[in-house]
Amino acid sequence: MTRTTAPFGRRRAAVTAREEHGAYVVIRCEDRTGPAPAPGQFYMLAAAERWGGGEGERPFLPRAFSVLRARAGELRFLIEDVGPGTKRLSELSAGERLAVVGPLGNGFAPPREDRKPILVGGGVGIAPLAIWQDELRAGGTESRVLLGFRDEWHAHGAALLVDPTVATDDGSVGHHGLVTELLEDELDGRADEIEVYACGPPPMLEAVRELCGRHQVPAQLALESGMACGFGACFGCVVPTVDGYVRLCVDGPVLEASRLESALAATIGAHPSQH
Ligand SMILES: Cc1cc2nc3c(=O)[nH]c(=O)nc-3n(C[C@H](O)[C@H](O)[C@H](O)COP(=O)(O)OP(=O)(O)OC[C@H]3O[C@@H](n4cnc5c(N)ncnc54)[C@H](O)[C@@H]3O)c2cc1C
Ligand code: FES
Repeated sequence: MTRTTAPFGRRRAAVTAREEHGAYVVIRCEDRTGPAPAPGQFYMLAAAERWGGGEGERPFLPRAFSVLRARAGELRFLIEDVGPGTKRLSELSAGERLAVVGPLGNGFAPPREDRKPILVGGGVGIAPLAIWQDELRAGGTESRVLLGFRDEWHAHGAALLVDPTVATDDGSVGHHGLVTELLEDELDGRADEIEVYACGPPPMLEAVRELCGRHQVPAQLALESGMACGFGACFGCVVPTVDGYVRLCVDGPVLEASRLESALAATIGAHPSQH
């Protein structure tokens, strides 16, 4: 797994643009001093101003976000408003500032043995797959992209990746059903050619883990858990693996599926943003 080390401390990043993609908002910000992130890494974000309940109240903790895309001196994040932190962040407009820590954690590792990458995303979990697809394409590797959303409003996010095949729960766009049904079709008879990269809600990741295990296909899963610090200090993000507990913020968020008995163990509860 790839890790780029974050500089010590928080830095300020000016928001340069806000774009809407159906249910999601993309926030772009300047980051001229931070190192370029590896695909799959994440940042702890907070709004520099108005980050907390109000006058005299304690500010929120920063929240974790995968990097969606990185360009020279610019970072992009994909945000779905599911609570107070994501609401404030998704309302940021050009000229406001973010407090940024990162890049943090481990990113995706390249496909082994010249396997063909299949990227499988669910909901806002498409974010780390966009930057991973960018990097694979820059190196001349095309990937198959399978994305699942709950409905047409969320499926607008699919435009952030190149040439995706889309599934929706309600059948309003693309395949009517689960993205893992599309994956199963891809794996049939081709298990020794493929490596899977997935990010999405825990039940989707668990279905990917089980499917890839059954077909003996290697899979790298970008997981989530509640993160208070993001750099290994609080142990709030521990998840069980076959060889003991790991801190997802420093040992993940990308873990080999074969290290997990279940991808459900990482969740801290149903995560509405990723359905
Ligand atoms: C490594 C990592 C990368 C992430 N990348 C993105 C991203 O690219 N875009 C994005 O929109 N969100 C992402 N998230 C999730 C995001 O951090 C949470 O949605 C956010 O912290 C919610 O904050 P809030 O104040 O809006 O809502 P809260 O009120 O804090 O939470 C809203 C609901 O979501 C649940 N929840 C919050 N955080 C998590 C979590 N980490 N895992 C499971 N359930 C959770 C809560 O239990 C609650 O039900 C990522 C999380 C991690 C750990
Ligand atoms: S979030 Fe604090 S140790 Fe991982």
